[in-house]
Amino acid sequence: MVQDSVQPVLEIWGGHSLQGDVTISGAKNSALVLMAGSLLCPEDCRLRNVPELADIKKMSQILTALGVKLIKNGNTLDIDARDINPTQAPYDLVSQLRASFFAIGALLARFGNVRIPLPGGCAIGARPVDLHVRGLQAMGAQVLIESGIVHAHVTGRDRRLQGANIYLDYPSVGATETLLMAATLANGETIIENAAQEPEIVDLANFCIAMGAKITGAGTNKIIISGVERLHSVDYQVIPDRIEAGTFLVAGAITQSEITVSSVIPEHLVPVIAKLKAIGCQVVQEDSDCLRLIPGELKATDIETLPYPGFPTDMQAQFMALLSVSDGYSVISETVFENRLRHVAELQRMGADIRIKGHHAMINGVAFLSGAPVMATDLRASAALVLAGLAAQGKTIVSGLHHLDRGYENIESKLVKLGAKIQRV
Ligand code: UD1
Repeated sequence: MVQDSVQPVLEIWGGHSLQGDVTISGAKNSALVLMAGSLLCPEDCRLRNVPELADIKKMSQILTALGVKLIKNGNTLDIDARDINPTQAPYDLVSQLRASFFAIGALLARFGNVRIPLPGGCAIGARPVDLHVRGLQAMGAQVLIESGIVHAHVTGRDRRLQGANIYLDYPSVGATETLLMAATLANGETIIENAAQEPEIVDLANFCIAMGAKITGAGTNKIIISGVERLHSVDYQVIPDRIEAGTFLVAGAITQSEITVSSVIPEHLVPVIAKLKAIGCQVVQEDSDCLRLIPGELKATDIETLPYPGFPTDMQAQFMALLSVSDGYSVISETVFENRLRHVAELQRMGADIRIKGHHAMINGVAFLSGAPVMATDLRASAALVLAGLAAQGKTIVSGLHHLDRGYENIESKLVKLGAKIQRV
């Protein structure tokens, strides 16, 4: 692995308290799916508050390969998907970015025909797409999966999907998004039952509504979509990233520092705030879009990850780092993904006392963590290691930064502004 020697790492000198205000970026998971949603639109689309992230670059490359014209100006992205080819999604990129597969719904709805590679395996679990495929079949799509490629088409004179009643066996975020997009241009009414209720679903629905789609119930477990013939131009602002906001609140808790996060939607952070309070911190709403973390003596609590409005799996690793230094025994149960505890081994290297049994992690809080060289195993695990490094005694070196760069815009400069001793070398 000659290349590894030139990969950047983050050096963190821990044990310093932080202070100040962080402006939270646009939500990665929303921006990605809105970019997929823009494929529904045969006119100009403008997205604002799009974060600068590796995943967004990858999604841009995939859209470009389909023939989309993109112009990026800071955090504003202009998208022109007038003349595109729905069969040109490149395997090497789609396999690296699961969210890009969600474009299948938009492409099929608009063109009646799509060819898209299956998303690749993923470090945090098998992550199949059966719910996406079954939902599209219920809407009349013919789907053939061959050599890792999904070919779907709609027969009939107008090649339009048909509205359908779809019950999801599990409230999958991606499947709800795929089917919601597909249904916007379908013939008749689609009802998605046991739908995911994440804020990113509501954002997608609002984006589609702004383009002329007819959708009610987004944010509940029953979404009703009346198909329209065509969508129109839109100028839309992506919601703030609740996971980035949650990560910075945990940074305050773990370093015993007062930190304010602004440009947030506090309602989206309810399960995270509840757990921070259970652990002994206060979270005060300062303004309609601003939360202040006031640290307290850290004590153990139990956490189970669940679909929204339950505790987000995307905050599990960060809370694992926090509970590692919280007094007493905590249990974290990961119920959403089957292989999302790989950061435990790295936290153990820093002195955390954690045992794993199945999908449960038993954490015995220690007085302090010690800096060590650690390797990020996935996006949120990398955030957990940065948080642990900020709190640890001595120097932590985090490698595997390509994971971190997928989902955190300017994380070092935001942390440095708060007073962290951190640098990329
Ligand atoms: C999205 C988020 C991800 C987050 C996750 C859960 C994006 C780009 N990613 O991922 O950050 O961690 O929601 O909040 O928005 N499943 C199936 N069959 C399917 C689809 C999913 O069995 O067809 C399973 C998955 O394997 C997983 C569970 O359902 O165990 C949840 O997955 P899902 O909600 O679909 O997550 P994603 O949309 O992939």
